[in-house]
This record gives sequence, C-alpha cells and structure tokens, in this order.
Amino acid sequence: MKFEIKDSFVGQVHVILADEENLIPDSVNQIADGLSEKLKALADKSRFRAKAGQVLEYTPIGDGDPAKLLIIGAGKLGDDRARSLEEFGGYAVKNTLTSGFTSVSVVGTGSADDARILLGARLAAYRFDKYMTKLSDDQKPSLESVTLVTSDVTATREAFEPLDAAAAGTEMARDLMNEPPNVLYPESYAGRIKEMESIGLKVTILGEKELEELGMLSLLGVGQGSVKESKVAMMEWNGGGDEAPLALVGKGVCFDSGGISIKPGPNMQDMKGDMGGSAAVVGAMKTLALRKAKANVVGLVGLVENMPDGNASRPGDIVKTMSGQTVENQNTDAEGRLVLCDVLWYAQETYKPKAIVDLATLTGAIIVSLGHENAGLFSNDDDLASQLTNAGLEEGETVWRLPLSPKYDKLLKSQFADMKNIGGPAAGSITAAQFLKRFIKDGVAWAHIDIAGVAWKSGDKSPIDPSWASGFGPRLLDRLVKDNFEAK
Ligand code: BES
Ligand code: MN
Ligand code: ZN
Repeated sequence: MKFEIKDSFVGQVHVILADEENLIPDSVNQIADGLSEKLKALADKSRFRAKAGQVLEYTPIGDGDPAKLLIIGAGKLGDDRARSLEEFGGYAVKNTLTSGFTSVSVVGTGSADDARILLGARLAAYRFDKYMTKLSDDQKPSLESVTLVTSDVTATREAFEPLDAAAAGTEMARDLMNEPPNVLYPESYAGRIKEMESIGLKVTILGEKELEELGMLSLLGVGQGSVKESKVAMMEWNGGGDEAPLALVGKGVCFDSGGISIKPGPNMQDMKGDMGGSAAVVGAMKTLALRKAKANVVGLVGLVENMPDGNASRPGDIVKTMSGQTVENQNTDAEGRLVLCDVLWYAQETYKPKAIVDLATLTGAIIVSLGHENAGLFSNDDDLASQLTNAGLEEGETVWRLPLSPKYDKLLKSQFADMKNIGGPAAGSITAAQFLKRFIKDGVAWAHIDIAGVAWKSGDKSPIDPSWASGFGPRLLDRLVKDNFEAK
C-alpha cells in the first residue's frame, strides 16, 4: 500500500476529519460549492456528533470522483491530539480497506501533525493473512493508496518520515509475533534478524556452542528440552560516534509450554507470543536504522523454546548463570528471567552500556495488576523511568511504574542456591523484576518493562491495532531514543 502526502484530492473516496467542536469543516466546499450547508443538515438529521470513529456517509450525484464522501469523527481533538489523529487515520482505512475502492484521499486539520493520520492509516492497513488460502476476493483489501491532503506538503512529509520508520518497526514486531511457532523458532528467527544487515545494522548470532563457552548456562537450561537450537542475536546501530550505547534486551521465548511445569491447555497457543519483548527490540532496531538515528544502540535478544522433554530442565535443578550466581529452578515456567539474566549480564560485559532497557512478556501477574492498558515499568533510575513514562505517553504505548525494593528479596531465598526463580504468590511481577535486578551491575541505569498484558490483544481493538499481535514496543523505544539519547 502507498501512503502519500499531496496538496490536492486524488482519491475515489474522500475522507474528511470532523471533530466534536467543528462537525463539518468549511474545506468541504473545495469539493463542491455549498456542500458544507448540505452536510450540516445531513449531520443534524443523522445524529452525527463526530464521536471517535463515527461515520457520516454522503454519495455525491454525478459520475466523477469522489464517488463517495466519508466524514469521520475524531472525537475531541484536544484531549490527546496525537492519538485522535492516528485513530482517525485508522478509521479512514478501516472503512475503505475492503470497500472495493482503490484510492482514498484524507483531509485532516491542515497542520504538520496530520502526519499522525498517515501513521494511523498505515498501522490500520496491517494484515497477517499469509496462511489464509480461502479468502474470497471481497475479503481481500482493495485499497492501494492513501493520500493525505494538506497545503503544507513539505513540513508534513518531514514529520511523516520518522513516523513511517516507526510504523515499519511496529509491523516487523507484529509479523514476528503473529508467525506460528513451527515457523518462527530460534534459528529461523535469528535468520530474519540477520536479514536486517541490509538496512545497515551489524548483526551477530551466537549458537549453543558459543553460549556454553560464554557460560550462559541458565539460558541454555531453558532451551535444553527443545530440539531447536537456542540462539542469542545482537544488532548494533552506530549512529552516535564514540558514545557508550543504550542496550535494549528482549525475551525471545518462541514458545512457552511451561516446560516440565507445563501450562494448562486452554489458550496455550498464545504462548507463541512469548517472544514479544524480543520482537519489540528487533522492531525498534529496524526503526532506528531506517530513520538513521544519531545514537548508538545495541539490541540483544535471547531466543529459546521452552518444552517438556526427557532432557528438559527439572524443578530442583540448580544452574550457574553467566554472572557466576547460582539459581535453583523451582518452576520451569518461570523461564523468562532465566533467559534474561544471562543476556543482561552479557550485554553489560560486552557493550558497557550507559543504560539498559529490557522488555519481556514476563509475568501473568502484571495482567492482574495493570490489565491490558499499561505495561509494567520497574527501574533503578528515576530519570530513565520518567523518560520511558513520557515516551509512552507521546506514542500511546503507556507504561506504569511499580516498585522495586530490597524488602522483596527475601522472597527469592533458596535453601540450596543463591536464589530461586520464583517468589511465591505475592507480588509476582515485582519479584521477577527483583530477580533481574541481581544481574545489573552497580551504577548502570536499568529499566525492565513487563509487557505480558499489552503484547497481544484481548477484547476491544483500536483501529490502528488490527491484528492479534499489537506490536507494542518499537514506537516507545524509538521515542525514548529520539528524546533522550540522540544528538540534536
Ligand atoms: N510467559 C509467561 C508469562 C505470561 C503469562 C505472558 C500470560 C503472557 C500472558 C511466563 O513465562 C510465565 O509463565 N510466568 C509465570 C511465572 C510463575 C511461574 C512464577 C506466571 O506468570 O504464571
Ligand atoms: Mn513461562
Ligand atoms: Zn514465558
């Protein structure tokens, strides 16, 4: 699909933004003289109030374009303008994607932040239907181009460029998440990451032999019940000179069966998405490379499959992590932290980062705490925490901070090893974060984001989030870099 910015209408369908304060903009008179009066009367009769997503449809009489006019509500533009614009763009696509028409022109507010409309349109046009062999022609998209109409073409194009890169990162994260686990497993996943060398990233893949030599025995223990080889992938983007990098670390459990502590059957298929943290990191690296960010960022992902097997790790096993600390495995379903602890340690040893952010679908408990509206944020650094909070608000990928405290550490005490990998029924997300913190060296700013509640969708969907996988993360991380780690 093409997404363009022009200064005049070109599409078969014209979509016009309406907000609650200004139901029918005067600009519709550019389409036909006196149209605004007609539409105001129609809006009145049809109870059109410009609520978010509400549609007023008008079919002009005559043979030329537009064949159809859609006035779409953007709600109250003032409340969260960026979100309203994105969702408006999303509704424009949602209402036309399979309509039969091939081109749509969209008119927004006329300011450069209308670029958000095109971002929303692109995110809404996402489909993951490559395995559907029986779609009828009517179920397939007809739309081929979305053109944003504005008088300020240059400024809007400039504003759209980085957003377009962010959309590409989000799409990549969604694709990785949506793939079935028989297609996307550590080795095939590493192969897709390797392909990103074509956009200027330096990619290194480590296999089991190298991981063993490095001492990542905790990560390897999680993967030992799987016939698939475990991998760690590193992606380096060097756009910032000699600066110490920001490290992004992601949990990439390509399928989490729970292992010997096997999960119950219902919805286990969702655990193909247990690599959501890694997908966020990979998508973010793609965005940073596409927009040539002026920063040094390295992405590291631990890729494993957690399976029950004669060779799988057992509850009671004690593993030595790369840091030297030992862990008693009391529940093989608490595997994410066993993967992350080694990758976090390796990231610090290898890259001496000035800050680390890890993302993981780590605990079901975070869904109990925050539902599906916010990711959980844990940090040892107030500045990094507020940078992430603000980045989330800017991009609509919000995080909510929860506490860390040494008081929770006693819950991780083991009789036999330095610690155990579960904390018991209380404060499950906090004890998981507290576990990770033991692998962060003194003085390193670190944040952990538990995305178990936001990586994939349950229930109501926003138009810009049309598939199972949300693609949460790349936009948040890209904004973090843009606002805080980049030479201006
Ligand atoms: N991948 C799961 C967490 C999860 C649960 C993600 C639901 C998304 C939706 C993780 O590996 C896990 O199983 N965590 C356990 C930890 C427990 C055994 C301490 C959990 O949350 O139950
Ligand atoms: Mn698990
Ligand atoms: Zn897991």
